[in-house]
Amino acid sequence: MKKDIYILGIESSCDETSVAIVKNGTEEIATVISSQIDIHKEYGGVVPEIASRHHVKNITIVLEECLEKAKMTMDDIDAIAITYGPGLIGSLLIGLEAAKTLSFIYNKPLIPVHHIAGHIYANSLVKELKFPLLAVVVSGGHTELIEMNDHYKFKKLGGTLDDAIGECYDKVARVIDLEYPGGPKLDKLASVGKPTYKLPIPLQDDSYNFSFSGLKSAVINLVHNEEQRGNEIIKEDLAASFQKVAVESIINKVRKAIVEKNIKNVIVAGGVAANNGLRTAMQELTNELGVELSIPPMKYCTDNGTMIAAAGYYAYLDGRVADLNLNSKSQDTLK
Ligand code: KG4
Ligand code: ZN
Repeated sequence: MKKDIYILGIESSCDETSVAIVKNGTEEIATVISSQIDIHKEYGGVVPEIASRHHVKNITIVLEECLEKAKMTMDDIDAIAITYGPGLIGSLLIGLEAAKTLSFIYNKPLIPVHHIAGHIYANSLVKELKFPLLAVVVSGGHTELIEMNDHYKFKKLGGTLDDAIGECYDKVARVIDLEYPGGPKLDKLASVGKPTYKLPIPLQDDSYNFSFSGLKSAVINLVHNEEQRGNEIIKEDLAASFQKVAVESIINKVRKAIVEKNIKNVIVAGGVAANNGLRTAMQELTNELGVELSIPPMKYCTDNGTMIAAAGYYAYLDGRVADLNLNSKSQDTLK
């Protein structure tokens, strides 16, 4: 019988300190997440220096709590998976130092995991991945289309040329006075509004790339113009108009990728996978094209150690072991 493999995953790339244990890449044993959203709220976004200080304070507590929850010790762990990047460098380094220390003390392999690989493999905690696969990664820091023809074989088809979609949601939300993170609040408003405002669909070209900064500026200009004319902005309608265009720009490129790359399975990953407009549009598109759609439950969509442990299992099988010289990278292509 094959031996079970237990991976301990550590995630600290932004404002969540998280440690989790996953069995064989698919079964969540225990997860602990310490979120800093309430701390950063008053600044309207994540403050890197404050984030890393909180990671320092939290990391050992979160680790101990996770082992306790799993009723395991470090002796039961086969390898340690760590988000080495991309993300905020000061935040990444705290998780990395913790992972290296554990790897050194307990003599366990150290597995470097790209943050986006984590978001993609969050899906394997729910459903087996089927290839050829298209991962639609939409979060506060990323908007990417990744093609996979096998486990741990990533090919980036395209990505945003400027702002990420989640970042754009948060910035537009600020324009209409919604509290950080405004994405989910904007989504909620959109559901009761009508798309009456005219906004341009960004980057309708032949590439797999996206662009959201022009859309953000278009919203700001629209609000200014209406204010100057003395017209009151109907927030619900503005939210619905923005959401329609933002979702459409994603859907257009996803449709192109499914058709051109003969995709069988589409997965949506990252925080914006919670978006109702995107979920509905993805469901309609994949139904129309006869492709399987997987969207992980919300707890796996936002940043967590579980997804890093799941990805770490497949990276481990792929022989991706690092030594103690491993460094954090604020930017790195998924490969
Ligand atoms: O994956 P995540 O936790 O962070 C990154 O790795 O970047 O995603 C957080 C982002 C935030 O920008 C948040 O506003 C956005 O996801 N978000 C949403 C929704 N829920 C979260 N954006 C639009 N609609 C939502 N329902
Ligand atoms: Zn993320």
